[in-house]
This record gives sequence, C-alpha cells and structure tokens, in this order.
Amino acid sequence: MDMNNIKVFRLAYAMFGSLNIEKMVQYYTETIGYRLSEKTEDGSAYLSNGLDHHNIVLTPHKHKGIKRYGYQLDGKLSIGEVQEELKKQGIHSQIKSDEQPGVREMLEVKDPDGNVIELFTEMDMPATGYGNTGIVPHKLGHIAFYAKNMQKTIQFYEEALGFMFTDTIGDNFANFLTCNHDHHTLNIVSSNKSNQLHHIAFELKDSSHQYLSSEVLAKHGYEIIWGPSRHTSGHNIATYHYDPDGNVVELFIDMDRYIPELGIFEPKPWHEELPLTPRRWEGLSSWGTEFEVDLANV
Ligand SMILES: [Fe+2]
Repeated sequence: MDMNNIKVFRLAYAMFGSLNIEKMVQYYTETIGYRLSEKTEDGSAYLSNGLDHHNIVLTPHKHKGIKRYGYQLDGKLSIGEVQEELKKQGIHSQIKSDEQPGVREMLEVKDPDGNVIELFTEMDMPATGYGNTGIVPHKLGHIAFYAKNMQKTIQFYEEALGFMFTDTIGDNFANFLTCNHDHHTLNIVSSNKSNQLHHIAFELKDSSHQYLSSEVLAKHGYEIIWGPSRHTSGHNIATYHYDPDGNVVELFIDMDRYIPELGIFEPKPWHEELPLTPRRWEGLSSWGTEFEVDLANV
C-alpha cells in the first residue's frame, strides 16, 4: 500500500445553507458573538471568530444544514500533490481557484456519504476580532453528521485525510475521529440518513463561560435541550440547543486531549480508568444524567 502523506489538522469552517439567512446571521453575530467579515453578491455571509477570514459561512439555500466543510491541510504537500495522492487512492477531486473569499485555492472532494469537503493550505487572516456581545466561543470544535455509509466514510477520513479513530459509543452508533489533539473533530453517527448534520460544536473557555452561555441563550430565546452534563466519550461537559434553522448546536468545555505518541488521553481526575485509551462506551452521560431529549435522535 502506498504511504499516504495527506494530513488535515483542523476543522476551519462550516458552510450552512439557510432559508432564513437574516435570522441565522443575527443568531451568529448577536447570540454566538461571531463577527461579519464579508458579504458576497450571492447573499452569503462570512463570519469570523477572531483571526480567520471565516469559520462559519451562511448561504441562501432551499435546505438547512451544512453544505460544505473546510479542513486545513498541513501544507507539506501542494494542492496539486494532494490531488495526485487522492487519485492514487481512486478518489476524484477538483481544484478550485478564487471561488471563495479568503481561500484562494482549494481542493473539493466528496466523502463516501456525499458530504462536500474543501481542503486548503492557506486562508486569509484579517483578524476581524472577537464580538463584544453574545457567547464568543473560543473555537469551532467539531462536527457530527449522520452517515448511512458509515464504515466506508470512517475509512475515508482515516486513510485519505489522516484522521485517527478515538472512541465509539455502543455498536458503532457514534464514531469519534480526530485530526489533531482534541478527542474528536469529527463524529460520524450511524444512521439510515445520509449527508445530514447531527450537530455542530463550539468550545468555550471554562465552566463560568458555559454558565454564562446558558444565560445568553435564555435571554435570546434559545432553550437548552440537553445538558449540561459530562459526556462519556470525550468527557466534554456539554449543552445543546437549536439555532433558528433547527440545527443542533453544542457548547462544550473539558474535551479530552489525545496523545497519539502514547495512544492515551491526557489523564484527568474524572477519568474512569488510568491510563485512558480509545475504547467503547455505553450511554452518553458519564454523570448518569437523563434528559427528556434523546440526543441519539435529534
Ligand atoms: Fe459533540
């Protein structure tokens, strides 16, 4: 087997389609606390959380949900070389230039479940700054989507893009993968649905920030549907709510840190076993908290 050198190291942005773009922009700027860095003629809004040109893109569309995922490559290979590597694995991709503000060159590729991925090495960093109002998360943490073609999709992220498998819940119900030190940057949820978002997650600073985030959400009319509770897999303390389009949004702290050199998670006082290694978990809450909303089926 050929040695694959393609390595993505972060989830940089997600592009949502929206029927209700004004409300979504209002939510992302006033409630989440992102800043608008650019609006384009097609009605898309590019929103930034500090440094990058964009971390969230909202674009008018007849269906809600994420339409494109932006992953940054480590830059060791040029876009053309990445395309060649993918081709060797039988994966079709397309180089696109100047199609998106802030990212001059990208490689568009579809995962086996039909999700569109944009791979790039460089993004403009206008340093739009952080919002003065709203929650102001520290970063876009991860995406979870439903996949019908689960095993093939997991294999694609591992073998083509250099992701590492961390945990699983139940009988491969939820499958956690990372492209850096975070316990997961991607969660693939087994389903008979394809190409559909389960949730998007943003990282907060600490427990007081999480407490404040619930206050901000309540003030803006968004109810918490699950949490706060500590998850089993990843040990993140999380809350979930719906954005104006009905997409599920997670806000979390305390995500486990993966140390690939040792194959373990950085030890924490709340870990059930030491050392903690990638494993299978049962249930969603490590505190045993039960909620009315079934997160497995939002
Ligand atoms: Fe999550």
